[in-house]
Amino acid sequence: TESKLQLVHRHIRAFPDFPKKGILFRDICPILKDPAALTAVIDLFEEHVRKNHPQVDLIIGLDARGFLFGPLLAQRLGVGFVMIRKKGKLPGTTVSVSYDLEYGKAEAEIQEDAVAPGQKILLIDDLLATGGTLHAACELMRKQQAEVLGCMVVIELKELNGIDKLKPHSLFSLVQY
Ligand code: PRP
Repeated sequence: TESKLQLVHRHIRAFPDFPKKGILFRDICPILKDPAALTAVIDLFEEHVRKNHPQVDLIIGLDARGFLFGPLLAQRLGVGFVMIRKKGKLPGTTVSVSYDLEYGKAEAEIQEDAVAPGQKILLIDDLLATGGTLHAACELMRKQQAEVLGCMVVIELKELNGIDKLKPHSLFSLVQY
């Protein structure tokens, strides 16, 4: 019978030359469309967290596709979910960090009162490429004096070595290319 990982794998599509020439885009939309595949993703994350990080206080999701998996996982674990958003989307006092994209800069933001000093958090996104986005999120957590237990993604693009950028934080990925 098919394993949960095989089921997840089968629901990731590749689109050549998107969003621009030379990029092979890994699309997780089929996972969301299939309840069994989505359940498998959350099951696998839940198993990882219960085994390795049972002390987690909060799941922190990255804009935008981290929001698709993060709240489901947080609810499973019985902990809260917090959004890190792109600049200018969150009301109230925010803390931000800027980071480099392939062209130009971006800023990630969190509400100042979203995470308390010393809280143990896990970061989640759909995909790790260069690691710039998750690295910026780790930097935001450092500013908030949160304790980062690790980073989690559905897909890791290994040739870009994003994992090096996250050090000393650990990365858990379900599928690697
Ligand atoms: C993608 C992906 C990650 C990030 C990974 O998001 O969902 O968040 O890029 O790339 P990195 O490891 O090189 O930083 P995207 O920038 O497409 O934004 P979106 O989720 O809002 O579409």
